[in-house]
Amino acid sequence: MKGIILAGGTGTRLRPMTNIINKHLLPVGKYPMIHYAIRKMAEAGITQLMLVTGKQSAGLYTEYIGSGKPWGVQVNYGIQDEAGGIAHALGIGESFVRPGEKLMVLLGDNLFEDSLKQAADEFQRQKGGAHVFLKKVPDPERYGVAELVDGRIVRIVEKPENSPSHYAVTGIYLYDSNVFDVIRSLKPSMRGELEITDVNNVYAAAGQLGYSMLSGWWTDAGTHRSLMEAGVRLMGREEP
Ligand code: G1P
Repeated sequence: MKGIILAGGTGTRLRPMTNIINKHLLPVGKYPMIHYAIRKMAEAGITQLMLVTGKQSAGLYTEYIGSGKPWGVQVNYGIQDEAGGIAHALGIGESFVRPGEKLMVLLGDNLFEDSLKQAADEFQRQKGGAHVFLKKVPDPERYGVAELVDGRIVRIVEKPENSPSHYAVTGIYLYDSNVFDVIRSLKPSMRGELEITDVNNVYAAAGQLGYSMLSGWWTDAGTHRSLMEAGVRLMGREEP
């Protein structure tokens, strides 16, 4: 299984720091945010990674991560020239994934406790499809939200005004390599981006979208408050 970490975006909610540096390089505990996504991939047994980021700060990523050796992984780099949405960024990874191979995708600002190893191993054994990770939250309208009927995801609604449930779709995804065909078939959303929720809805409509519930804490560190809280949680958790 290959791993793709998406670390682009403009980080508007984390201004002014993100005026000068990419969000995923901001400090969380002792490390830049990107450290934790690499650790989670390595923990799941994934050793071949691609990091997709914008032109801004790309040099700082290579300076900090290098080839990935300190984490026991191999890191390749993909550059998203212009912002085009999460699904567009994922499309940049196409040449990195062989047909028939599976992939784990992490949004670099998602920080969480659960290990992904078991779900990744199970997904590797299944024929194909996609798999998302849900977390019950008090404020679902900030996220993509899963509509569940008889224990299945029938649809995901992005930032709904009236949430169909309290289950946020986290930025942790497993896909078969057909995901790149799905991305090619997408049309830009109202905000002009290729949306990851539209990708997941193609799988949901085909009855091919599985899910797990995260049991530990999870946050998307996209605001000053959530970034600070993540730092407090993760401070001192990592060795050395
Ligand atoms: C993105 C996805 C959303 C998901 C969230 C998780 O939102 O579009 O479906 O719930 O990541 O972090 P964004 O943070 O880009 O607004």
